[in-house]
Amino acid sequence: MIIAVDGPAASGKGTLAAGLARHYRLPHLDTGLLYRAVGRAIAGREDSADFEAAAIAAARALDAAHLTDLAVLTSAETGVLASKVAVIAEVRAALFAFQREFALQPGGAVLDGRDIGTKICPDADVKLFIQADSKARMERRAKQLEERGLIVDRYVLYHQIEERDSRDMLNPHGGFYKAADAHLLDTTLLGIEAALRAAIEIVDRDMALKAGG
Ligand code: CDP
Repeated sequence: MIIAVDGPAASGKGTLAAGLARHYRLPHLDTGLLYRAVGRAIAGREDSADFEAAAIAAARALDAAHLTDLAVLTSAETGVLASKVAVIAEVRAALFAFQREFALQPGGAVLDGRDIGTKICPDADVKLFIQADSKARMERRAKQLEERGLIVDRYVLYHQIEERDSRDMLNPHGGFYKAADAHLLDTTLLGIEAALRAAIEIVDRDMALKAGG
């Protein structure tokens, strides 16, 4: 079974995808980490003439070993860098095979990101699109960062998320929208457990419908 989980920054999709993976005993790929690792690789060179070429080279050279430094990869600054490399078509193309291969492993997988239901796995068995209002998303991300001992300026964080949202929405090579066959799940008023229960209900219902023909 392939489960696609998409949604905007800090919507809760990563936590939900990890919970679904645990529940159904499936491997999980946070595809945002791939873009973050490429963004990290070109940090400090965003304004240089070879920015695009460097990002493409980093995407082509990426492997699982580059995805381990979570403290650096999951920072808000790396998120902004990720959204800058994510608009480059060749970067997206270079990361496609890694994601597709992960999805097609025997038994299936859970992938979360922005374009899983639309581009990476349009054939996914179940698609979820996670939404939450932007204040709730900022507050969740602030708490995550604070749990790691970081000092968070909520004003700056809010603007980082807004900047990323607008760049993502305009991404010409994206596919950052809800697939027609995706279920919308708004988690603004749901805690982690309640959101996971709602997601499991959706997956079980879809799979039962499929099994019934
Ligand atoms: O966790 P959060 O939602 O804040 O971000 P993320 O999923 O780690 O993604 C970071 C950035 O990578 C996004 O803002 C997108 O620009 C890009 N991305 C993408 O282009 N395609 C994906 N499948 C996942 C992320």
